[in-house]
This record gives sequence, structure tokens and C-alpha cells, in this order.
Amino acid sequence: MTLPKKWVWVATVVCAALVSGLTVPLPALSGNDDKALISQANALFKPLPASDALERNELTPLRVALGKALFYETRVSSDGRLGCVTCHNAAYHGADALALSVGVHGKVLPRNAPTVFNTSLLVAQHYGGNRATVEEQAYKALLSPLAYGNTSNEQVEAKLTKLGYAPLFKAAYPTDAKPVSVDNWSKAIGAFERTLLTPAPFDRFLKGDAQALSASAKLGLAKFISTGCAGCHSGATVGGQTYQKFGITQDYWQVTGSTPKDAFKGYDKGRFHDTKNEADAFIFKVPQLRNVAVTAPFFHDGSVETLPQAVKVMAQLQLGKQLSDEDVSQIVSFLESLTGDIPPDFAQVPRLPAAPN
Ligand code: HEC
Ligand code: HEC
Repeated sequence: MTLPKKWVWVATVVCAALVSGLTVPLPALSGNDDKALISQANALFKPLPASDALERNELTPLRVALGKALFYETRVSSDGRLGCVTCHNAAYHGADALALSVGVHGKVLPRNAPTVFNTSLLVAQHYGGNRATVEEQAYKALLSPLAYGNTSNEQVEAKLTKLGYAPLFKAAYPTDAKPVSVDNWSKAIGAFERTLLTPAPFDRFLKGDAQALSASAKLGLAKFISTGCAGCHSGATVGGQTYQKFGITQDYWQVTGSTPKDAFKGYDKGRFHDTKNEADAFIFKVPQLRNVAVTAPFFHDGSVETLPQAVKVMAQLQLGKQLSDEDVSQIVSFLESLTGDIPPDFAQVPRLPAAPN
């Protein structure tokens, strides 16, 4: 099969861009050029999958329902006030709208809560990537002193039984010898999270609907690619697939105004705190950009309040470029096309087992 000339051109430019990481000259956007932009975008991004089922964690309706109840459940935390939903709320598109989240007993966490939507598709969880899967993330939250603050798995299992969860665990995991377990707690929450995908106008565009993006968003997409943003923010989640240094041209805090954090005995050095390897200093997981327009404030510590400012900071710190206000507003229009609907099952409050007498 021979490709039409135009496609060969597009493929060559995209490959050259991927290899060199350099600026791609873009054709002017008129007439047929929508097609060129759609194919260029498809070489870098992918539509979200329909679901994120994994064989080892089948998404049965009973498991998803149990996971949802547990996601909303606050009585398992050590002060009885905190659930996943506290920091990953529907009203804030799966995040909490705070610069830094507040954990049990009012303890301030050293990081900003990302949205919980689409996270099962990321290379790993947390800014440092120290949780491999959403299941592991949920598992470890229970005993984390800043998050749930429990002291043992047995303590958690006793609380769940006392709260009346045993029949729900048995129904969801009928063949398990011990259905009420922290392992099943994390699997059920993981099953629920794997349903929280948020397809957006950008997915329709990738599938060929040129009208799904406004003219400004299309210009923004072209600039997002030509400026070099897609060198790090690519794939189905527009980021979340690799680790990169934050602050390539200068120390990030000089531009973001970030402050040292007690938990890190200084400025947050990202992955270094998990691996203790100097080569990982200031390396962070590249965040996904899906829903970024509705999950302010920005960066690992919520140090930047507005999206236009975050885009400027990125261009300066990661690429050594100054963007014009027009470039920024077009890129922001593109980022807005990544906002999906809140999954209906996430927004609808579940019925939890009644409190014990
Ligand atoms: C006190 C607020 C708080 C609570 C409660 C909380 N989280 Fe989070 N969550 C955060 C913060 C802050 C981060 C970022 C941590 C980091 O990167 O080091 C995070 C990160 C995550 C991530 C990774 C997202 C990504 O893009 O890497 C997932 C998934 C997640 N939380 C799910 C949950 C689940 C499930 C629960 C309940 C078991 C939960 N969270 C409870 C604040 C919270
Ligand atoms: C060299 C890799 C790299 C490049 C190039 C890059 N980014 Fe980023 N981006 C990152 C990393 C790493 C972070 C996380 C920084 C942190 O908070 O620690 C990030 C964070 C962001 C955030 C904040 C997300 C959030 O949820 O807080 C936005 C918005 C963003 N990037 C947009 C862009 C745009 C627009 C461009 C192009 C101008 C771009 N990025 C270029 C690596 C990159």
C-alpha cells in the first residue's frame, strides 16, 4: 500500500518531532488541515478506553458498588472524619480544590491532591510514583499516618465488621475464606476507581470529529505540540506516563513560589524521597492533563493558582520559552477540551451501612 503524499509528510514531521523533541512546523489551519491536525494528534495521544478492566481485579458490579461505599466511608479513619471522598470530591472533579490537602486530626499533607479520575491508566500513582497501582495506593492509605492514620490491618478489618460491611464483602468476594480484609478493601476501591474514566470533547476530535474542538482549542492543540508540551504530556491521559525533572531551566521554586516542606526537610525533591537516589532529585511523575482546567490549584504543592499561569510556568521551566498571552489562551482552550463529565456513578452518593448501636 502506498500512502498519499500528505500522510507521508505528516508522518515524517511527527516522527522527526518525536525523535528530536524539537519544534514542529505546523501547516496553517484551514480547510483540509483539520485532517492533518487530527492525524498528528493521533500520533501523540489516544482516546480513553471504554473501561479499564483488569483480569486480576474483575470489575463486577458488586465490587464496584462496595468500592464506592468504601470510597465515601469516613468512619474507618482514625478520627472518624476522613474518607477518600474528603480529598477526592465530585464537586471539585475528583480533587479537593486546596493547595495542600488536610488529613486526619487536621494534619496538613505536603502535597496537592490530584483528581482521582482516569488515574488507573497512569504509569504509577502519586507524584513520586511510589504506589504502583490504584489498589496499592488505597491499601497504603489506611495505615499512612497523614491519611487514615490506622495502626494495623486487623484494626481496620474490625472497624469494617463493626460498621456492618461483612455481608457486602461476602457478596463481592464470595469464594474468599476471609472476605473482610484490607486486601479486598483495596481491590474493591480499585475496581471503583477503574470505572472513573472521563471521556471529553478531545476524544471525539481524535476519533475524527473536527467540530468537537473550537477554533481556538485547535490552535492551542497545534501550539501544545509545536511548543514541545506533548514531549512529556502525551498518551491517552495527556501525561502520567513518564517521570521528568521539574525545573529544567532553573529551580522550580524560584518561579512557582513553592516553600520548603517539613515532611521533606526542604524543597520537595519528588521521586528522590522514595528512592533516596540523588539522580531522582526533583524528578516527578508528569501529571495527566485530563480535567486540568477544573482542578486548580496546580503543581505538586498547589503553588500556582491559575491555569494560564501554570502554562507559562511550564513553558519557562521545562522548555525555556516565553509564551505570548495569545499562545497561552489558545493552549488553555485546548486544555479545556480535556474536561470530561463527572462520572454519574461518582457523583451519586451511595447508601452506607447504618451506624452500629
Ligand atoms: C487527606 C486527603 C486525602 C485522602 C483522605 C485521600 N487522598 Fe488520595 N491523594 C491525596 C494527595 C495529597 C495525593 C497526592 C500524593 C502524592 O503525590 O504524594 C493523593 C493521590 C491519590 C492518587 C494518585 C493520583 C495520581 O495522579 O497520581 C489516587 C489514585 C488517590 N489519591 C486515591 C485515593 C483513594 C482511593 C483514597 C481513599 C482510600 C484517597 N486517595 C484518600 C489526598 C488524599
Ligand atoms: C520536560 C517535561 C515537560 C514538558 C516539556 C512540559 N511539562 Fe507540564 N509538567 C511536567 C511535570 C514533571 C509536571 C509536574 C510538576 C510538579 O508539580 O511537580 C508538569 C505539570 C504540568 C501542569 C500542572 C498539572 C497539575 O495538575 O497540577 C500543567 C498545566 C502542565 N504541566 C502543562 C504543560 C504545558 C502547557 C506544557 C508546554 C508549554 C508543558 N506542560 C510542558 C513535565 C513537563
